[in-house]
Amino acid sequence: MRPLLLVILGLVVGAMGATFALSALRQGTPFHLGVMAVMQHHMGVLRANVRAKQCDAKGSLAHLSRMRENAGDVREAFPGMDAPFYGGGDKLVAAIDDAISHAPGSCAALAGVLAPIGEACQACHQQYQ
Ligand code: HEC
Repeated sequence: MRPLLLVILGLVVGAMGATFALSALRQGTPFHLGVMAVMQHHMGVLRANVRAKQCDAKGSLAHLSRMRENAGDVREAFPGMDAPFYGGGDKLVAAIDDAISHAPGSCAALAGVLAPIGEACQACHQQYQ
């Protein structure tokens, strides 16, 4: 009985794997949307903090760092794009690196570093989204 169950389980898992592979081929992976969604999340939290006037340096840096990690994945998440697209990604990385190096400790400073980051997001979206 046990070996038969294992065979059936193997068939089910194999069929599931084939289905996943097919749908991945058809739709591409959601990785690129994940990268964007995570950056959107951290951008949203930082903007809300500015509005709420709660901009402690450590918390801001944590969100900026996570945004930076995801910005570094833009190239891998969007393979086969043209050079200006990757240039746009590099601009975003540069803006976030700049923000991190300034370690914004006030809401005014945080709003100041978020502006060029937001512009980098927008510049690419205007052209490619
Ligand atoms: C180098 C280009 C580029 C940069 C820079 C960029 N994006 Fe995007 N983004 C895109 C593209 C292309 C799409 C559309 C992806 C799709 O629909 O398949 C997109 C889609 C999105 C979406 C919608 C995702 C969805 O589920 O439909 C959000 C949210 C987003 N980006 C947030 C951001 C934020 C926040 C930043 C800046 C921190 C940013 N993006 C920077 C290219 C970029």
